Amino acid sequence: MINSFHEPVLVEAVLRFLITEPGGVYVDGTLGGGGHAESVLNRLSNKGELIGFDEDAEAIESAKNRLLRFQPRVHFCQNNFSNIKSGVQQIGFEKVSGVIFDLGVSSHQIDDSKRGFSYQLDGPLDMRMNTKQKISAFDVVNSYSRERLIKIFREYGEERFSGRIVNKMIEARNRKRIETTKELASIIELCISGRFLHKSLARIFQSIRIEVNNELENLKKGLIDAIDILQPGGRIVVLSYHSLEDRIVKDIFRAASQKTVSSGNKLLPDKIQTPSLNLIFKKPIESDEEENMLNPRARSAKLRAAERL
Ligand SMILES: C[S@@+](CC[C@H](N)C(=O)[O-])C[C@H]1O[C@@H](n2cnc3c(N)ncnc32)[C@H](O)[C@@H]1O
Repeated sequence: MINSFHEPVLVEAVLRFLITEPGGVYVDGTLGGGGHAESVLNRLSNKGELIGFDEDAEAIESAKNRLLRFQPRVHFCQNNFSNIKSGVQQIGFEKVSGVIFDLGVSSHQIDDSKRGFSYQLDGPLDMRMNTKQKISAFDVVNSYSRERLIKIFREYGEERFSGRIVNKMIEARNRKRIETTKELASIIELCISGRFLHKSLARIFQSIRIEVNNELENLKKGLIDAIDILQPGGRIVVLSYHSLEDRIVKDIFRAASQKTVSSGNKLLPDKIQTPSLNLIFKKPIESDEEENMLNPRARSAKLRAAERL
């Protein structure tokens, strides 16, 4: 059955790679509607506990309702997963048996026009996962310099018409501030024709969202600290949805699993290091056609998993 808040992706694979100890403590760094968390809790024994992070207050509320029957074995942290270490410590744990991250935004966030994530719905230019945060999409679109916007669209959206789009945005915002998702979408529509339009809209909205929520930096810190709090034999499982996220996961996992590290000087040999991770498989796992038909969001998912040494 499709859940109205968010349909979890690759659930069976997540459970298979994540759970090593039914009585252990697990962290869901991206609780959302609590879909993955519920499946994890269903597989744990009555000693197993779960700590769920989400910086979105609505996600935490929804997950609290869904996971009510597992109390008191569930702990909620309305916090950014870049603070995973201190959050887990505050709840009273030093080490955990597994961490799952299911990156990006939930269907609930995208489908709510007020949150301003979708170019298909009309809403305020917002895109904050944490609605208490100061900076929103409105600030990025209306106050960032031409150069900074082009850099964001190129780096986070890999959008080749960035210059043209930013010029039109600047013309428009000099007349009046750009306030809504539809206003921004119609400016992009002026620059790109026909079959390229849909992809450009998706790329520009994605890059603004990444900037607003500082997604790539938070991911780097979250991953490094998650690896640090895993007990030996504990697992980390990450679901990513675009190439920038997947590259970060791949690079951090690879760096932690290598026996040598560059000395930083071409004349000196690599330094020996003790690896902290073992990659469970090299090529990421993707969903099959059947899941993609039922849940289109699964189409771009890539699952990587590793074990703490
Ligand atoms: C794809 S959804 C997770 C869905 C969830 N696995 C489920 O089954 O319902 C991602 C969630 O992570 C949250 N999120 C994204 N980045 C975050 C971060 N850096 N810190 C905390 N929460 C984050 C979003 O607010 C969103 O609710």
